[in-house]
Amino acid sequence: MNTIKIFDTTLRDGEQSPGASMNVDEKIMVAKQLVKLGVDIIEAGFPIASQGDFDAVKRIAEEVHGAVIAGLARAKEEDIRRAYESIKQAPAKRIHTFHSTSDIHLKYQFRVSREEALRRSADMVRFAKSLVEDVEFSPMDATRTDIDYLLEVLEAVVDAGAKTLNIPDTVGYALPQEFGAMIKRIKDKIGDRAVISVHCHNDLGLSVANSLSAILNGAGQVECTINGIGERAGNCSMEEVVMALKTRRDFFNADTNINTKEIIRTSRLITRITGIPVQPNKAIVGANAFAHESGIHQDGLLKEKMTYEIIKPSDIGLNKTELVLGKHSGRHAFKSRLKELGYSLRAEEIESAFVRFKSLADQKKYIFDEDIEALLSEQTTKVTETYKLVDLYVAGGSQAKPMAALKISIGDKVIDRIEYGDGPVDAVYRAIAGAVDTKSTLLKFEVNSITGGTDALGEVSVTLEEEGKKVRGQGADTNILIAAAKAYITALNKLAMRRVNQ
Ligand code: KIV
Ligand code: ZN
Repeated sequence: MNTIKIFDTTLRDGEQSPGASMNVDEKIMVAKQLVKLGVDIIEAGFPIASQGDFDAVKRIAEEVHGAVIAGLARAKEEDIRRAYESIKQAPAKRIHTFHSTSDIHLKYQFRVSREEALRRSADMVRFAKSLVEDVEFSPMDATRTDIDYLLEVLEAVVDAGAKTLNIPDTVGYALPQEFGAMIKRIKDKIGDRAVISVHCHNDLGLSVANSLSAILNGAGQVECTINGIGERAGNCSMEEVVMALKTRRDFFNADTNINTKEIIRTSRLITRITGIPVQPNKAIVGANAFAHESGIHQDGLLKEKMTYEIIKPSDIGLNKTELVLGKHSGRHAFKSRLKELGYSLRAEEIESAFVRFKSLADQKKYIFDEDIEALLSEQTTKVTETYKLVDLYVAGGSQAKPMAALKISIGDKVIDRIEYGDGPVDAVYRAIAGAVDTKSTLLKFEVNSITGGTDALGEVSVTLEEEGKKVRGQGADTNILIAAAKAYITALNKLAMRRVNQ
């Protein structure tokens, strides 16, 4: 059995999805969850891109152990030095450097000859190798590169010390058979001198198929992201490629080190943090991925699950313990549920989650696992509360214009504000914006129901922009207007924190 390495680039290529930027604390939270999931390598960021990226990679390298931490760098000395500075504290570290190789990129974007691109690639791999043992090289736009030239570049960077050769389908142009054949040619040439990796984009919806085809032809590493997020149409989806290998082990004779029971939790964490929802019919992690609607299917399933189910929901961590807790559940039951869900929290974190759980249980009869996860995700991002919601009253109807009466504390002052709006959320947001006198702009507002039923916990995610900086805030409550207010106030608190830290 072949073990395929999983190189997760959610924090780098995934973060390049429009609107997906994460702050440092959120990145640490994601990196820790990726370790629980069992990924082999975490590409933590592109350290030269910004001070924020550098700081995030550095903290991940210092605080998150259990996977190789990789930093991305163009084939330039300054990039490679910066990547090294950010990852150097990690017990296991990798520099991932890249240079375009296609004539299209060389001629129109970089204006360098093939010879010069080859020389720079080999020189920079050698330089990276002088800093760390583990060096990966990517010939960007490989799938539109002349194959003979590509092989020459790969040979040169292996001679210079690269131990992983990552073949990116940068623009998502490749087709499975063609890509498989290309990987085979590379594998035949390189043999076991380096691991062949693939990095497929999803512009034609083929990133998973291309990655699987590459595995059949000798690839030993797949680069992917949770929920398939990433530049443009995204990257190869980690959960899809992993579950394809697991479900069809008979065909691939390959597996991964992924603990698949952590898949759903990781997927939900990414959705919450990035605010990018998963389409309901998405394979593996979509809300409908295990929902059987047709009568014939339901009949078959009741007789024998195998009739229409190729993956057990529990294999990805979807537990059928429908009913979890309610208002009579005590601290002990709550704590053991947290443990079963895989959380290890400090005593004060458990206490604060328990208080919130109790207040939710007063509003909602049954508390599901998803509700608990939403409560915890609200609490895990540490935000100093400059602004606090004290009270909110909203009125309106089909005839009357919606009105919001708000009480908000700012430091030790409590401010009252009444505003009217085009809708109830608009009225609430006008009241908050007026009370705190914000200069920020609301870029995105999303509502998501955590579970079913009219008493479902509603989760609101908002993105604000102030002076070119974007922040996201989340709020969860059974009252969707309170959830909206909490989300907005959390985002405003993050902006306030930023101003203080500048
Ligand atoms: O898509 C791509 O080519 C990349 C490289 C930096 C590996 O993301
Ligand atoms: Zn990419």
